[in-house]
Amino acid sequence: TQEVVRHDGDAGHRGDIGYGKIILLGEHSVVYGRHAIAAPIPLNIRAEVKPQREHIDLMIPRWGVEMRLSEPERCISSLHASITLIAERLGVAERGMRVDVVPHIPRANGLGASAALAVAVIRAMARCFEVEISEREISNLAFDCEKIAHGTPSGIDNTLATFGRPILFRKENAGARPEIRDLATPDPIPVIIGLSGVATLTMQTVGNVRTAWQKNPERYEAIFSQIDQLALAGVEALRKGDIAELGELMNIDHGLLNALQVSSWEIEELVEIARRNGALGAKLTGGGGGGAMIAVCEPERTQSIASAMRAASYNTFITEIR
Ligand code: MEV
Repeated sequence: TQEVVRHDGDAGHRGDIGYGKIILLGEHSVVYGRHAIAAPIPLNIRAEVKPQREHIDLMIPRWGVEMRLSEPERCISSLHASITLIAERLGVAERGMRVDVVPHIPRANGLGASAALAVAVIRAMARCFEVEISEREISNLAFDCEKIAHGTPSGIDNTLATFGRPILFRKENAGARPEIRDLATPDPIPVIIGLSGVATLTMQTVGNVRTAWQKNPERYEAIFSQIDQLALAGVEALRKGDIAELGELMNIDHGLLNALQVSSWEIEELVEIARRNGALGAKLTGGGGGGAMIAVCEPERTQSIASAMRAASYNTFITEIR
């Protein structure tokens, strides 16, 4: 059996953290000003910054990253740009520092690793150099880092990575302030996360949807509005703790995400396995085109659904919305 991974909060001094996330309802349409529901997962990214005499060094051993920002040609360009931006905005770009990052979120799975990394580094750098920064400013700066990683982000990933609570999110247009509403559910709802094992390129799936929308805006706006209605109905389902209703909304959302053609062979297999083994709802989560999917079910079904996914050689973990 597999233990439920629980949230470990901010306890301990193992560095500053950014939260990973799942989107329950509303990915992609959220880029077009519609509502989406997101929740944190207990996986996070931790960062620690220590001053050193010169150079800014970034170490992420788990991802094989060892970069010195003064040698840009040997750096991953998006990481170089993000860390440079953070140091500049915090006014410490001239200081020497070593940034150590420990990611517990798998990369390129639509689980918010890039936003969580930005948030963890912002917090750690601000702490190291005693720069005062509010939670909102952290989220905004992480949003600017997300633009480097993803092109046209909605702002939901950086918001979740910063605040780490279940939320209803909407940003009506690029210049607007996001509307963020905390969500609650009476009892924890079990969620199984299935990893397709294929990297998701959010920038690419978001770009593909944009191209389709540009060719036929009315057709795609109609799909986005339908997804918006599902996300709003999801708020009520969560409030009541109605897993069957939430599951149905997720199933329909997955159908509409298929209409946007952002699913993949492996995600479809995982969705099918989850439903056949008793999931009340299953859908891709995040950018799609690979990455991860989520399933909800009654608590007694979680282990058998996860086992069936693992029997088909997929990695899974079990968490809960609370
Ligand atoms: C990515 O986690 C969610 C998308 O809706 C993109 C975004 O909102 O920025 C696909």
